[in-house]
Amino acid sequence: MGRVTPTVLVAGIDAAGRPAHPALAEALAGAGLVVGAARHLAAVPVPPGCATVVLGPLAPALDRLAAAVAAGTPAVVLASGDPGFFGIVRRLRAAGLPVRVLPAVSSVAAAFARAGLPWDGAAVVTAHGRDPRPALNACRALPAVAVLTAPGAGAAELAAGLAGWDRRLVVAEHLGTPDERITWTTPSEAAATTWTDPHVVLSLAPETVAGSAGMRADDQPAAAPAGGWALPESAYAHRDSMITKAEVRALAVARLRPRLGRLVWDVGAGSGSVGIECALLGAAVLAVERDPDAPIRANAARHGVDVRVVTGAAPGALAGLPDPDAVFVGGGGLDVLAAVADRRPPRVVVTLAALDRVAPAVHLLRAAGYAVDGSQLAAARLADLPGGSLRLAATNPVVLLTGELP
Ligand SMILES: C[S@@+](CC[C@H](N)C(=O)[O-])C[C@H]1O[C@@H](n2cnc3c(N)ncnc32)[C@H](O)[C@@H]1O
Repeated sequence: MGRVTPTVLVAGIDAAGRPAHPALAEALAGAGLVVGAARHLAAVPVPPGCATVVLGPLAPALDRLAAAVAAGTPAVVLASGDPGFFGIVRRLRAAGLPVRVLPAVSSVAAAFARAGLPWDGAAVVTAHGRDPRPALNACRALPAVAVLTAPGAGAAELAAGLAGWDRRLVVAEHLGTPDERITWTTPSEAAATTWTDPHVVLSLAPETVAGSAGMRADDQPAAAPAGGWALPESAYAHRDSMITKAEVRALAVARLRPRLGRLVWDVGAGSGSVGIECALLGAAVLAVERDPDAPIRANAARHGVDVRVVTGAAPGALAGLPDPDAVFVGGGGLDVLAAVADRRPPRVVVTLAALDRVAPAVHLLRAAGYAVDGSQLAAARLADLPGGSLRLAATNPVVLLTGELP
């Protein structure tokens, strides 16, 4: 028989309040090194005299674990919930350490359980150790999102960023411990509250809470839409042809690069078709439109996406809106484009029907530091002629500009 490679046992501490896995006590009894957060080390019977490393910083702990493995010393790592789910297993593997995992109930599963909600259609995102904006944008885009938090990027900060979006929040602190606290709240209340770590946040659309709609159990949260995009104009209510044509929309949406975690503004949204297709592809969307009767909300509901509508005229209406990753300017003049460029979104897409605006728009974007390209798009659609013949029916040409910051 070959030599058995020593492995690091990684044990989850349950977030649902269940006792630790029976194999953990046995492993601890024989361990030469135990690594874990102070609260986890305090929660299990570490034998007297056993070396411990308190997390904190991971690098020194990884070095100690590597040395233990090399020396054949049994080592245990304690972690929260399921250590393979947004947890320490990734880092241990990246450090080349062999691991065996005893998973426990994750904080996300426990939080949904405490809320009494299913979670197979929910997205799970993390604000832990990274830019928290993608997590926030996922909450803005989707009807059920669980957020793993970090100090400084927790419930209060997320809630502040959700102002203007219709959400209920569940903040689950210290799950599975005597200090567990589950709070149903609103973004405005949560933004003004001090929360204790660790906690997870569930961001829920009202339909999700009501159980009437929302979470898609049959699908990945931000999978490409089943019905596709660049949909025909007939897929949207619109007035007086105030809608970006499907062929133009296809390129505009592609250039905006919508995806889960990003925020797109649709300025001069009209029917909202461009923003709605960005939302179908997972982005959070803010539609700015001066006409209060524009059918954006109805169109968004028809396509099952959440688009926040800001009724007002740009550029004034843009003040105070959260910073976007990409902006579509489908309506409004050069003053609107200038105000958009001032906000420095990484990408701007503009459609222009008036030729006299093309050169000034290009110059404006270039002067603001954008690399600009553009093309004229003129689709001619198949149409029937009497007698079974076909003809081409012209649609109005437009110029589409894309500006990208280097
Ligand atoms: C690195 S992630 C670890 C997730 C873990 N693997 C799990 O399955 O729960 C750390 C984050 O998980 C959440 N968390 C972990 N344990 C928790 C608990 N007992 N109560 C509430 N949140 C917890 C917090 O958001 C914390 O910042």
